[in-house]
Amino acid sequence: MRIFVTGGAGFIGSALIRHLIDDTEHEVLNFDKLTYAGTLSTVERVAESNRYRFVRGDICDVAAVRAAIAEFRPEVITHLAAESHVDRSIDGPGAFVQTNVVGTYTMLAEARAYWLTLDEGTRAAFRFHHISTDEVYGSLGAEGLFTEETPYDPRSPYSASKAASDHLVSAWGHTYGLPVLITNCSNNYGPYHFPEKLIPLMIVKALGGEPLPVYGAGDQVRDWLYVEDHVRALRAVFERGQVGRTYNVGGHNEKQNIEVVRTVCAILDRLRPRADGASYAAQITSVADRPGHDKRYAIDASRIGDELGWQPRETFESGIEKTVRWYLDNEDWWRPLVAARAAERRGAA
Ligand SMILES: NC(=O)c1ccc[n+]([C@@H]2O[C@H](COP(=O)([O-])OP(=O)(O)OC[C@H]3O[C@@H](n4cnc5c(N)ncnc54)[C@H](O)[C@@H]3O)[C@@H](O)[C@H]2O)c1
Repeated sequence: MRIFVTGGAGFIGSALIRHLIDDTEHEVLNFDKLTYAGTLSTVERVAESNRYRFVRGDICDVAAVRAAIAEFRPEVITHLAAESHVDRSIDGPGAFVQTNVVGTYTMLAEARAYWLTLDEGTRAAFRFHHISTDEVYGSLGAEGLFTEETPYDPRSPYSASKAASDHLVSAWGHTYGLPVLITNCSNNYGPYHFPEKLIPLMIVKALGGEPLPVYGAGDQVRDWLYVEDHVRALRAVFERGQVGRTYNVGGHNEKQNIEVVRTVCAILDRLRPRADGASYAAQITSVADRPGHDKRYAIDASRIGDELGWQPRETFESGIEKTVRWYLDNEDWWRPLVAARAAERRGAA
């Protein structure tokens, strides 16, 4: 199949592309603006494949999207391009509305215009797969899980913009019959994760001897999904998922943020002990909590398990060990990104 991936230079999109080139016969077009979050070093390993192409473009740019779709003639569009960092959405929500809402609208409108030109068989087989987050469901108390029926209740500008984009995708399915699929997943982690997100940030700061900033008491609970498990789920959904359906994807790994940070420290203590013999955990520092910080997210991923046979392969323990080792072995990838990254604290207000 010809698969048009938006945001393929980012964390999850690049993992999807590496998987599609390594493990399938599919052809891939990577359509990405290369914002601060996107770098082609994430797909360097597969860039020489004759089944891979890259187009630098903005999903809000109608002409660029139209031309890329017309030229590539996709059978599937997997839409991952987004502004994705909650803290940045607190500082500058406008970019989130633009890319996540207007950009998704542009992708839908151009996908539909192209889809209408297809012959009947190709049109029936076409899929528009939108990748979203469990954060659209809001925050849980101590008990319960998000299911695909949980009402939307987004709290941050990021999750509100993703919720809006999910509604647009669903409307294009209901109103125009575009064959859409939506997945809502929990927090991903793994190789090539931009070093502003919790796990890589902690690894990088620990190695740099800096304080490890944990929001508030660090008792917020997230479900952690290894990125390579996630991309196998995405493939199962766009290859075999039922049109119009939403699938939640989670790792069955609920952890408090502070537990995650302590685990990272313990692995680093074993693999690269501090010169003074102390634990990296001594660098943990509590900082003021993120405004409106959701307490707990947890996913019921039974639908994708029951209907499509997907299960995560990694436990948190195996995935976090692989991740920390990857960052230790790939300093050449993240050091230039860290050097370029603005030093200021984001998301304070
Ligand atoms: N990372 C997670 O834990 C997580 C969890 C749930 C859902 N998601 C969703 O998955 C998707 C991918 O997330 P990620 O973590 O890989 O994000 P990321 O920030 O690592 O990558 C986003 C990519 O999109 C590109 N991009 C941004 N704006 C663009 C634009 N206007 N036009 C074209 N390209 C643009 C960037 O250059 C980058 O390559 C997002 O839609 C996000 O909302 C992520």
